[in-house]
Amino acid sequence: MPSQAGLPRRTVLTALGAASLAGTFAAAAPARAAERSGVATDATAADLPAAAAHWTFDEGSGTAAADASGNGHAAALQGAAGWDTGKVGAHSLNLTAGGDAAASGPALDTSKAFSVAAWVNLSQLGGYQTAVSIDGKVVSAFYLGLRDDTGTFAFARLDSDATQGAAVAAAASAPTTGTWTHLVGVSDPSAGVTRLYVNGVLEGQADYTAGWAGTGDTAIGRALYGGGHVDQWHGLIDDVWMFPTALTSDQVATLAGVPVESTTPLLSVDVAHPAHAVSPILPGLMFEDINHSGEGGIYAELVQNRSMMASDTSPVHWSAVGGTTLALDTTTPLNDVLTRSLKVVLPTGTGPGNRAGVANDGFWGIPVRPRTTYTARLFAKASRRIGPLTVAIESADGATVYASAHVPHIGTAFPGRPFELTLRTGSGAPVTGDARLTVTTADPTASGETLWLQHVSLFPPTYNNRPNGLRIDLMEKLVALKPKFLRFPGGNFLEGNTIATRFNWKNTIGPVWERPGHMDDAWGYWSTDGLGLLEYLQWVEDMHAQPVLAVFAGYTLKGEHVTGDALKPYIQDALDEIEYVTGPVTSTWGAKRAADGHPKPFPLEFVEIGNEDWFDSSGSYDARFTAFHDAIKAKYPHLKLIATTTVTSRTPDLIDEHYYLAPSAAQAATHKYDNRDRASTKVFVGEWAAQEGRPTPDLNAALGDAAWLAGLIRNSDQVLMECYAPLFSHVKNNVWATNLIAYDNVTSYVSPSYWAQHMLTSKLGNTVLPATARALPAVATVATRAGNRLYLAVVNSGTEKATVPIELKGLPKGVRKNATATVLTGPSRTTTNTLASPDTLAPRTSTVTGAAARFTSTVPALSVTVLELTLA
Ligand code: AHR
Repeated sequence: MPSQAGLPRRTVLTALGAASLAGTFAAAAPARAAERSGVATDATAADLPAAAAHWTFDEGSGTAAADASGNGHAAALQGAAGWDTGKVGAHSLNLTAGGDAAASGPALDTSKAFSVAAWVNLSQLGGYQTAVSIDGKVVSAFYLGLRDDTGTFAFARLDSDATQGAAVAAAASAPTTGTWTHLVGVSDPSAGVTRLYVNGVLEGQADYTAGWAGTGDTAIGRALYGGGHVDQWHGLIDDVWMFPTALTSDQVATLAGVPVESTTPLLSVDVAHPAHAVSPILPGLMFEDINHSGEGGIYAELVQNRSMMASDTSPVHWSAVGGTTLALDTTTPLNDVLTRSLKVVLPTGTGPGNRAGVANDGFWGIPVRPRTTYTARLFAKASRRIGPLTVAIESADGATVYASAHVPHIGTAFPGRPFELTLRTGSGAPVTGDARLTVTTADPTASGETLWLQHVSLFPPTYNNRPNGLRIDLMEKLVALKPKFLRFPGGNFLEGNTIATRFNWKNTIGPVWERPGHMDDAWGYWSTDGLGLLEYLQWVEDMHAQPVLAVFAGYTLKGEHVTGDALKPYIQDALDEIEYVTGPVTSTWGAKRAADGHPKPFPLEFVEIGNEDWFDSSGSYDARFTAFHDAIKAKYPHLKLIATTTVTSRTPDLIDEHYYLAPSAAQAATHKYDNRDRASTKVFVGEWAAQEGRPTPDLNAALGDAAWLAGLIRNSDQVLMECYAPLFSHVKNNVWATNLIAYDNVTSYVSPSYWAQHMLTSKLGNTVLPATARALPAVATVATRAGNRLYLAVVNSGTEKATVPIELKGLPKGVRKNATATVLTGPSRTTTNTLASPDTLAPRTSTVTGAAARFTSTVPALSVTVLELTLA
């Protein structure tokens, strides 16, 4: 494991007495806009700048809304737009039945600093609904309104007048219907920021520098995207202002008509009223063979193309030693599934001093360590009885042999079981990834003869000493995360490009030399399926986790979909698979599992039907899910079934949602599940990641991941399970950019996202406490409690340190002043870990003092902090 040792990075706690807290709540005086609105306040108006436009919507009849700023931007009501009772003044714009109000041309120069404010009242939630915007040619220059991806109010801007991802300043609070909410969007490209205020409180902030001028119409109640009018607003809009400046917080409070002191930063935790239990099965892992995650990854086999099946045309990864001629020979199969062997014609002159044979280059080299025991297994035969056959781990140039062993004789037929050899490196062996495996003979009687090889395998020591097992360093990193489950075997790997290349579990059990393997065409390399169903289950067992078994559901990546009676064999395969996992030894498939070495049934609670079936444009998933559901529930009523997209004919126990987001979007989506209908189907977020960094995430992505995960934990009454994806990448085969853990053939390292997840899921109570971060737009948070331990996670995605006033409400007896702070931070968003510098970013733990019912914590810029407090 990467070291956690090192100098603590300080999180500063300052106890705040009542006096100092009162000091932060400065008194203020009445507000001009608030007076207009009739909102009771004792605040003084901060002076507002001259407006660029102001629509009061107080006309109450007709189809024109005047511009009260005097700048002549009168808006025309269109479509079903009408009038209703106002929030400010007598009337408001009513868009409940559709329509909008538009002023000709832009009321503002959006390439410069500006602010836009509106009172809004939604008649329905959901989707994208834009209250105010200014048209560009293709997209709006800004969008103030509701967003579907965050599920919240937001102020969003795009980098140019083209469809692309937006910089989103998203709200922290939930939108509701039938209530008036005050929104202010502030754009200040020269300061590099956009902000969203909700009811006077700064709730969202995003980095943004690309100010550009929208030259089209000013629209109230819709937006522009892809050149067309979109984002119809449903509900009321009132008192819309546009200012050619970036409003200050005090000016926003004035417009919203709220006291300044109710808009200052505060992180508030309600200790007395727990929200719900933390899902006991929340954090897990997702694995599929991608980026050589399995082959050349966690599956510890060191020989690449051991079964000679990876290419139909040449013995890839094998090369000649001593002048041999190599070919694939389909006339000498090992058995019905390994239907060819490697034919090695030994040169005349083979003999002492002239060894001849083959070499395998492994997965970018064969790794070597001193004092290490390796197990080789191989099938070999020759055109006459010859021997000995030497198996050696040696330097790439063959000059140095690190370990070797011999098969005394090989005959003229393949044996029933492979020859098995033990190779041990000495204390002088180097640590290197640059070795090769050779199989040679120097027997003079072999001169000019032919040798055939199949299933040439080499294993280093494995986790828990499992034969055909897993790589120790990678397993240790996974076990340290204490995952509750492993979702396997995919992902796209489950589906395959075609039915022939799906994960066909029946081909992945039994002796490894009786497994045909298949092309992992989703990710572009051969899978021996040595990492098969039993190996996955043993992996789960070794992590003390439970399986989430994904079964092939009749849909492939290239769109093949199986329906009707043709689906029956696949349903039967799934039933058989469940029986292999859970059946008694007296059952057909339970007996096979016992014969494979594991008589004890494995526990199984969750079965996932397919993967990402929202891609199935044929619409067949509903019927496919129903067919699998009914067959599985009939035989295994206790199993919980996971659907991979919405279905209507049956009610799944969980629905699997996947999110691959930009770091800023992940941060903005921390509130995604806050506002969910609590009665709807529970969620399994079976793949998610903030994507930035290659092959592993950088600090910026880790911050997005931490903010997102904080949201999942906060909502773990809804999101019962979650797992990041992808888990692994070999540094030499990084086809999917951002992955949690990376390695070469010798060493491995974990990413800052790994550490962020480790922190949030290991320092976690069993009850979620309500926690809100007010006017802390760069901060995401989650608070949990177990007994007298309170865990408060604070993610600061901003580039400034955050001074966070914290109040712990409802403490029974107070809190001990000493606390523990674990902090992950780094100098820049792009800082990351690498194979060469695996410990650049790692959490540091230190004792801090000053915790109290009200105190201030100063958390570093770009940081994840977990405060561990002890209740008195
Ligand atoms: O995690 C990588 C891929 O992303 C998975 O195979 C697939 O399910 C998703 O599209």
